[in-house]
Amino acid sequence: MKKLNLKNILVGLLIILVVMQVFSIDKTNPPIDEKLDFFSTVQVPEDVNTMLKYSCVDCHSHSSKYPWYTNIEPISWWIKGHIKGGLQHLNFSVWQAYDAPKRRHKIDECIEVLEQERMPIKSYTWAHKEAKLTDEDRKRLIVFFESLRDM
Ligand code: HEC
Repeated sequence: MKKLNLKNILVGLLIILVVMQVFSIDKTNPPIDEKLDFFSTVQVPEDVNTMLKYSCVDCHSHSSKYPWYTNIEPISWWIKGHIKGGLQHLNFSVWQAYDAPKRRHKIDECIEVLEQERMPIKSYTWAHKEAKLTDEDRKRLIVFFESLRDM
């Protein structure tokens, strides 16, 4: 058997990386129906609006932005996985398509992930410093979601 040397390994890795680039991700956002969209149908105070837009909508709405590094596989697969997973759990763009109990449940989950500091996902805030929430921001968002729940 041919001995594996560093050069062969590097060339092999390079070939794998090049082949990966063929499998780029789909970066088209589905259209947003204003009649269903959270931000068009719910009264959202300006400061809360800004926080949700900076910290949540990339993974939880049809307005995901795809920065330059999403052109690089396999980083893009990892990011697309976050967006797909995020949309499955909570999609602000189809908010009114959820029935009332489901909306209530989603609101409770939002409060929960904010309390537990599970969202926004840590790795997201490495690349998006503006997405980081302070304790005060979290409190503000929780108060907002509580007011929405009690409406
Ligand atoms: C980088 C992408 C990303 C960002 C940004 C993000 N989320 Fe998520 N979110 C996910 C993924 C992926 C899941 C599903 C897997 C999980 O729970 O970790 C999820 C799950 C959730 C859930 C469901 C939790 C559950 O228990 O099932 C809620 C609610 C939620 N996110 C709210 C938010 C809020 C509010 C923000 C902003 C403060 C936010 N997310 C920011 C990716 C993201």
